[in-house]
Amino acid sequence: MTLTFTSGRSDMARVLAHLQAHDHAFQPPLSSRVSLADYARKLVDHALRLEAWAGDDLIGLVAVYCNAPEQDAAFVSNVSVLASHAGQGIARLLMQSAITQVRERGFSNLRLDVDHRATAALRLYLALGFQPADKAANGSVSMILPIGPRPPTALP
Ligand SMILES: CC(C)(COP(=O)(O)OP(=O)(O)OC[C@H]1O[C@@H](n2cnc3c(N)ncnc32)[C@H](O)[C@@H]1OP(=O)(O)O)[C@@H](O)C(=O)NCCC(=O)NCCS
Repeated sequence: MTLTFTSGRSDMARVLAHLQAHDHAFQPPLSSRVSLADYARKLVDHALRLEAWAGDDLIGLVAVYCNAPEQDAAFVSNVSVLASHAGQGIARLLMQSAITQVRERGFSNLRLDVDHRATAALRLYLALGFQPADKAANGSVSMILPIGPRPPTALP
């Protein structure tokens, strides 16, 4: 099936269905840390969302909070691609779109926290240029990617 990539199209029901389908792929399962319904609501209400669709199914989701004062750092809250579509470069593409959009909004850095057991995610973030910034007490690693200002447009 052809994949479609969008931004900000997903609604609460689609995000919740996606998180429920992928819950146990997270280390630890997402539902052990948050209410999936509350989290889906929060993402739809407050996060920049980059989405990958197979038909009407939301199969990939990157969600970023862009509400820090001074536009210093935006924070990646969610990165997930369903196992049925893994290994096709979808997460990388969604993250690259997120980086572009966050840079266009004037942020200087992109931050995220990742559990040290989430090997695939860690490799993805390192490949994108994220650097470990801090170790948090709960076994997760904070990472940062400087994204700098938007490059100047070329003169004609
Ligand atoms: C992490 C995740 C989003 C990757 O999605 P994906 O679409 O399969 O990833 P991509 O195909 O774009 O792969 C990009 C890079 O990620 C890394 N990666 C992806 N899958 C991997 C795996 N199974 N093992 C090791 N590295 C992997 C690789 O560096 C890969 O680059 P490469 O193909 O050039 O080696 C997906 O596995 C997932 O949803 N995991 C569970 C949720 C999670 O842990 N999210 C992160 C929370 S912080």
